[in-house]
Amino acid sequence: MSDRLHSSRVVNIADLRACARRRLPRVVFDYIDGGADAERTLRENARVFEDVTFRPRGAVSSPSIDLRTTILGQTFELPFLLAPIGSSRMFYPHAEEHAARAAGDAGTGYILSTLSGCRLEDVKAATRGPAWYQVYLVGGRDVATSAIRRAKAAGFSALVVTVDTPVSGMRERDHRNGTSALLSGNPLAMAPHVGQMLTRPSWLAGFLGDGGLMQFPNVVLPSGPMKYESVGPALAQSVVTWHDLPWIRDVWNGPIVVKGILTGDDGRRAADGGADAVIVSNHGGRQLDDVSSGLRAMPEVVTAVGARMPVLMDGGIRRGSDIVKALCLGASGVLVGRAYAYGLGAAGGPGVARAIEILRADLTRTLALLGVSGVAALDRSLVDAPAEWAGR
Ligand SMILES: Cc1cc2nc3c(=O)[nH]c(=O)nc-3n(C[C@H](O)[C@H](O)[C@H](O)COP(=O)(O)O)c2cc1C
Repeated sequence: MSDRLHSSRVVNIADLRACARRRLPRVVFDYIDGGADAERTLRENARVFEDVTFRPRGAVSSPSIDLRTTILGQTFELPFLLAPIGSSRMFYPHAEEHAARAAGDAGTGYILSTLSGCRLEDVKAATRGPAWYQVYLVGGRDVATSAIRRAKAAGFSALVVTVDTPVSGMRERDHRNGTSALLSGNPLAMAPHVGQMLTRPSWLAGFLGDGGLMQFPNVVLPSGPMKYESVGPALAQSVVTWHDLPWIRDVWNGPIVVKGILTGDDGRRAADGGADAVIVSNHGGRQLDDVSSGLRAMPEVVTAVGARMPVLMDGGIRRGSDIVKALCLGASGVLVGRAYAYGLGAAGGPGVARAIEILRADLTRTLALLGVSGVAALDRSLVDAPAEWAGR
């Protein structure tokens, strides 16, 4: 592990975030770090974990801690998977392959976004762990069908259908940083914004050496892989609705996980539509602002469908103790997004490995301090949460 990531320098995820901020141009760092509109949901996702406190059991010896978790018949060494993060290849050369490899080396899963800069076959080949494929319908049904078939052939073991992105959220930082001007190809429009790249030579060398602006090799249009600048309009023309689940199921013929659920009603709709699991998520506060945090929304969804299917959650997880709280409140597992994306931005694969290591050590220590020997023993008796959180 590189010296910069040594444990005395990078003690927690906030330290990794600071490293990413130093290496990345502002436009890329803010793309990872920012959220929609006033960023109230972005902040609430992380803050809400303060509302839950632990009720530890004293005088208990837990000589070995078992973090293994089974979801949809697959066993993961850790109770968290790496969330789909579009455009990761802008953070580091071949980033999706590095992230998948780091997840597999740690015995956990990686979820590849449709909006990846690397071919899905190369990402699957990079990891010895389980990989799931996240689908957007960008480019239309035929384009998505061909990507889903490729994902099946490559060995992805579950399909994640994200339902919270009928259009892109309003990410104000991206506007201020000149994202559209930089993508316009117009030198005059770009000029005021290129300075931030010149002051990040290590990122710039990697970016240019990796072929410059990435395309989307898993969104293959009749004209070829979708170009980077087309993604906004393409997302707006590709809304997933509940009517799409049946044909997606026919093409995929495997486990389907619906991501972006925030209410019990939508949890039931997903279950009735044939989903095998749901992820309670507000997309890391990047879509509709002023919705509930993932943690706050989860008990209602668990009450609605927890007996029928696994309920996972994401949003705001920066510490292993956050993961433990989510599991105590009924999650079958969680996704971490920015926690590993900061690692990618800071140092590529070793940065992701460091993020995973930090969370794993946190988890082991938190369980020992709680007086339990594994994630299977976590339940609501180990936390105090506000009474009104009980599901409806
Ligand atoms: C930079 C970035 C890009 C993302 N891209 C996608 C994506 O392509 N598809 C998707 O379903 N979710 C996407 N998400 C949402 C994540 O999968 C996840 O729900 C979210 O990051 C969880 O919150 P956290 O970052 O606080 O852990 C993205 C999130 C970030 C931060």
